[in-house]
Parts: sequence; C-alpha cells; structure tokens
Amino acid sequence: MKERILIIGSSGQIGTELVMELRKIYGENNVIASDIRPSSKDVMSSGPFETLDILDEQLLRTIVKKYKVTQVYLLAALLSATAEKNIELGWELNMRSHSHVLDLAKDGLIKKIFWPSSIAVFGPTTPKENTPQYTVTEPNTVYGITKQAGERWNEYYFNKFGVDIRSLRYPGLIGWKGAPGGGTTDYAVDIFHQAIKYGKYKSFLAENTVLPMMYMPDAIRATIELMEAPAKQVKIRSSYNLSGISFTPKQIAEKVSKYIPNFEMTYNTDFRQVIADSWPSSIDDSHAKKDWDWEAKYDLEKMTSDMMKNLKKQYTISA
Ligand code: NAD
Ligand code: SER
Repeated sequence: MKERILIIGSSGQIGTELVMELRKIYGENNVIASDIRPSSKDVMSSGPFETLDILDEQLLRTIVKKYKVTQVYLLAALLSATAEKNIELGWELNMRSHSHVLDLAKDGLIKKIFWPSSIAVFGPTTPKENTPQYTVTEPNTVYGITKQAGERWNEYYFNKFGVDIRSLRYPGLIGWKGAPGGGTTDYAVDIFHQAIKYGKYKSFLAENTVLPMMYMPDAIRATIELMEAPAKQVKIRSSYNLSGISFTPKQIAEKVSKYIPNFEMTYNTDFRQVIADSWPSSIDDSHAKKDWDWEAKYDLEKMTSDMMKNLKKQYTISA
C-alpha cells in the first residue's frame, strides 16, 4: 500500500529534519508538511506544505482526506519551559492535538500514528539513575502531565480501538538544522551557537546537572525504525524509553573548549533548573533494544565534532 504521511508541527526542531528524511524514503510528494508557521526553505521547496492549526479538527480532516493520508506524525506541542509560562495553552494544545489525531485512526481515516513522549513524563519521585521503563511517573510540570496522560491515551486507544500508535520518550534532542522550541534541554543546543559566535555561553542550568540527551540523527533513526517495525514487535504502546548520552553543562563545555580555544562558560540558573532537577539523569532503554533492535550511535565526543563541523560551515556560509 502506498504510504502518504502528514507531519504536524513540521517547522520545529524535529520536524525540520524528520520531513526531509521521510521524503527521501517515501518520495517528496508523499510526505505532507504542516504547521501554523512556514517551515525551513528545504522543507517548503521539496514537497507539499499546508498551513494547519491542529486545534482546528475540521481542517485536519479535510487535509487528511485531500491527500489520502495513511500515517500521521504529531510533533506540534508546547515544550516544558514554554508550557510552564502558559499552562492553559500547554494543556489545551498538547491534549487536544493528540485526541484529534487518535480519533482520525479510531474513525478509520488513517492507519498509523507517531506521537512523542518525553523524559518529562518522569518526576522527582522516579528513580534517577538508569530509569526503568516501568516505574513511578509523577511529573510536576504541565508538559510532563500532558505526556503522562498522552501515554495513557495511547495505550487506551490501542487496547480499546486497535489504533496502531507508536511512541518514544525522547531525551533532550540536539541538532544543528532546526532551532529548539522552548525546552529545558535547549542549553545543549544554544551552547554551540553562542560558542561559535561569541566564544562564551551563560548556562541556565547548573554545572553538575546531568540530563539524558540524544543527537538528532539517532532520534530520527529511532523514530523511523519504530514506525517501520512489524506491529507484533511493538510490544509497548504507551511509549518506549530511549537512551542516548547523559552529560552535564560542565562536561559539554569541556568538549566545546576543544574546538573553541578560550571558550568561557558561566552559570546563572533560572526556573528551568527546578524542571531539570525533577528529571532522570540516565535512562534504561533495554525494551527498545530487545523489541525492535534499537541502538544509539553517537556519544558526546562524536556529537560535538559533528555539531561543530556543520555549524561552523553554516555560519561561514551565512557570514
Ligand atoms: P518545537 O517546539 O521545535 O516544534 C513544535 C512545532 O509545533 C513548531 O513548529 C510550532 O510552530 C508548531 N505548532 C505550535 N502550535 C501549533 C498548532 N496549534 N498547530 C500546528 N502546529 C503548531 O518542538 P520539537 O522539539 O520539534 O518537538 C516535537 C515533539 O517532540 C513535541 O511533542 C515534543 O514534546 C517532543 N519532544 C521533543 C524533545 C526535544 O528535545 N526537542 C524532547 C522530548 C520530546
Ligand atoms: N527537550 C524537552 C524539553 O526540555 C524534553 O521533552 O522540554
């Protein structure tokens, strides 16, 4: 069967990269990008784009029928830090978008859904080290609460209506192609840009705060591998733990210093420190490894080298 894929939230950090990868696999015209704002030049020029506010369920259904969409990747959301500043919109957008997409599948309009969860599903009462797949989840941010409720919806729709929903608990994601959208882990992207432009960075997280992170090529590959896995191998329908690299602001600053001599790192924590303190420091993703052969490829060294190479090139070209 010919797959037609709709990406909702294609202009964000993940969408910018995922659309291009999916277009390589499924064909440019079979991957429809959509967002409330325009996407990157590459996305806009390489295939179809629709302006879509995911809260408009009627328009969503019209677009799905127009393109005969078979799969939806729902990336539109407010991330942890932004949602704390606007808790009503955080709840409304993150929950209603999810219901709108789940109902498309329940009503037989689409066959498969990808919806990302997050390490934010965990909270201060969760074991911090090597956090297991099945453990206490008592998130204390509105973002985390929407991810936890979303995971429960996933399993409910799978069991009750047979909806083929697949999900990953992404760690903080780091990439050079798209700008991050207001998360607690954004410092680990900003540091590269500021280091190259100004030779210094002021971190909003404390120097020894360990968080689980992942380089974007690993995250995109995990997403596509999970979506392409045979249904019987996808044993967890709430959301899979996913692990990449754990490090502190101090450790990433040391790596950056190798590429930017005299790089200066300072620290001035804000409200995001409290959020970071409530999250795990490392994740056990053995279920993903066992069920669909997941394995991360990037460590801190390899990621830093690739980020530096690509961003330096990008800044030289745009100078
Ligand atoms: P992002 O903030 O960069 O992008 C979200 C996109 O959604 C933006 O382009 C925004 O314009 C769009 N959007 C906002 N409101 C919309 C609406 N009403 N209708 C349509 N589009 C709308 O986010 P991201 O980093 O790409 O994250 C995508 C998903 O992955 C989210 O669900 C996020 O929770 C999850 N996730 C991301 C990370 C990360 O580190 N980036 C980690 C864990 C989970
Ligand atoms: N990177 C995301 C955030 O910080 C985690 O879901 O919000």
